Amino acid sequence: MRRVVTHNEAETRALARSIAATLRPGSIVALSGELGTGKTALVRGICEHFGCLGQVSSPTFTIVNEYSGTADIAHCDLYRIEKPGDLWETGLLDIMSGERIVIIEWAERAAAALPFPRLEILCDYGDGETDRVYAIHEADAEHASLLAAQGRMEASR
Ligand SMILES: Nc1ncnc2c1ncn2[C@@H]1O[C@H](COP(=O)(O)OP(=O)(O)OP(=O)(O)O)[C@@H](O)[C@H]1O
Ligand SMILES: [Mg+2]
Repeated sequence: MRRVVTHNEAETRALARSIAATLRPGSIVALSGELGTGKTALVRGICEHFGCLGQVSSPTFTIVNEYSGTADIAHCDLYRIEKPGDLWETGLLDIMSGERIVIIEWAERAAAALPFPRLEILCDYGDGETDRVYAIHEADAEHASLLAAQGRMEASR
C-alpha cells in the first residue's frame, strides 16, 4: 500500500496522471471515500493522461460515461446504489472484462461485486482544508486468485 498526501487539486491530478501510466486496457480502478475527497479529480487526472479530459462529466445513476482518447475509458459513480446486485442495472458488469479502462467512484457500495484484480484507491481528507490522503492498493493478482480459489472451494462444499 502506498499513501500519498496532496495539498491541492492540481497535485491530485498529477498523482492520477502518474497512476494512469500504469493502467492497461481492461484495468479496473475502484475509488472509495467520502463526498469531496477528490474521486472525480482523480478521474480527471487519469483522463488527462489519455487525452480525453474534455469529455469528463459526473455520471448519473445507471449511466456509464464513456470517453475515448489514447485509451477507451468507462466512468461510473455508484453513489446511489443500495446493494451490490443493483450493479447489473448500470451495465458496468457487461463492459468490465473488455478493452476499456473502467473507473468506479463510490466503489465501496458494490465492492463485493467488483472483479479482481483491481487498483483500489481509498480517498480521505487530511489535516489542512485542501489536504487529501490517498491510500493506493496496487492490483494484487495473486491475492485475487487465492480469493477466487477459496470461493470455488466454498461453493463446492
Ligand atoms: N488536494 C485536493 N485534491 C482534490 N480535490 C481537492 C483538493 N483540495 C481541494 N479540493 C477540492 O475538493 C473537491 C473534490 O471534488 P471531487 O468532485 O473530485 O470529489 P469526489 O470525491 O468526486 O466527490 P463526490 O463523492 O461528490 O463525487 C473539488 O472542489 C476540489 O477543488
Ligand atoms: Mg465525484
